[in-house]
Amino acid sequence: MKTVLVTGGAGYIGSHTCVELLAAGHAVVVLDNLCNSSAEALHRVENISGRSLEFVEADVRDRRAVDALFKAHSIDSVVHFAGLKSVAESVAHPELYFDNNLGGTRALCEIMADHGIKDLVFSSTASVYGNPSNDPIPEEAPTQPAQPYGESKLAVEEYLHTLHAADTGWNVLSLRYFNPVGAHPSGLIGEDPNDIPNNLAPYITQVAIGKREKLSIFGNDWDTVDGTGVRDYIHVMDLAHGHVAALDKLADKPGELILNLGTGRPYSVLEVLAAFERAVGKPIPYEFRDRRDGDSSIYYADTRKATKLLNWTAELDIDDMAQDAWRWQQQNPDGYK
Ligand code: NAD
Ligand code: WQD
Repeated sequence: MKTVLVTGGAGYIGSHTCVELLAAGHAVVVLDNLCNSSAEALHRVENISGRSLEFVEADVRDRRAVDALFKAHSIDSVVHFAGLKSVAESVAHPELYFDNNLGGTRALCEIMADHGIKDLVFSSTASVYGNPSNDPIPEEAPTQPAQPYGESKLAVEEYLHTLHAADTGWNVLSLRYFNPVGAHPSGLIGEDPNDIPNNLAPYITQVAIGKREKLSIFGNDWDTVDGTGVRDYIHVMDLAHGHVAALDKLADKPGELILNLGTGRPYSVLEVLAAFERAVGKPIPYEFRDRRDGDSSIYYADTRKATKLLNWTAELDIDDMAQDAWRWQQQNPDGYK
């Protein structure tokens, strides 16, 4: 049993990971400034788990608050989700992304080092690759992020690399997630986007429940199985299990590791839509529109490294993702509000 600090633990992936950490017997301390989440998510994590966690409402860049947290709790390791994730916002305001994502990680790591805690799991993204091919993407593929969001995450990976090079006492696992979707099977926690969703799955469920008229599919002339974009969607519960496995891996003192977390099974937009139609039990209206700026045709993970090193593999399929996302949407038409 470890005491784990989960930054950004009230958010989408963080809340699901808290459930799995508690289920694995760990004690959990969440630090979150709630800039893109609600404390209600944490109450629901406690309901699902039948266990309580500690919550500190603070910004990860607030060194005094983070220092006080480390003084108050005997933290063993850190899972660092806190950050900003909107690609479009990062194009308009890159400085926010470097300040929060890189600045937040630097502040966190400085305080961790002050307290002699050097075991970290970091939320990176498949966006660091930026230049996909038709083949599954291995971790060794060149990194060329196409937007400031991906650049800021790559900058964090590079910072962590430098940290480890200077002091091999650090153990840093950067996990490059592909496309997380789905929700906890209880329907109590899930993805709760502000405003109009940018991502495919929450947009589909909002159409299905009648909040939006129809899905716009961005392009039907890609060089793919049916002309629509192809991605590697991974169930958020599989991702949560991946984080528990990553924490277990820290016990081996692995040094620096970078791992893809995906399923390795690509799906087109139309295939995802079909899975949601099966889950909802009725057709979901859509129209084809022009390609979205910055999109690419095919993007999916080579998952062999994570399977080998974490002894973990994604188990849930696209129908599980659609059914669980739809249950969350139905039970919470307005999210946590
Ligand atoms: P999310 O926005 O739901 O969760 C992020 C959480 O961090 C939120 O609760 C937010 O309030 C908090 N936060 C943000 N800045 C903070 C700060 N400075 N101090 C304290 N708390 C702060 O996002 P998510 O989808 O759960 O993503 C979690 C992490 O995974 C992010 O770092 C994101 O970049 C990364 N990621 C997400 C995806 C995805 O598609 N969801 C894919 C790849 C990587
Ligand atoms: C998936 C597919 C779209 C919406 C982004 C970030 C990435 C990561 C995950 C954080 C594409 C199509 C989408 C819609 C559509 N996040 N689509 N209509 O762009 O693969 O990845 O989220 O790290 O960094 O870039 O995900 O869900 O936006 O799109 O046709 O309304 O669905 O063109 O083919 P993406 P997405």
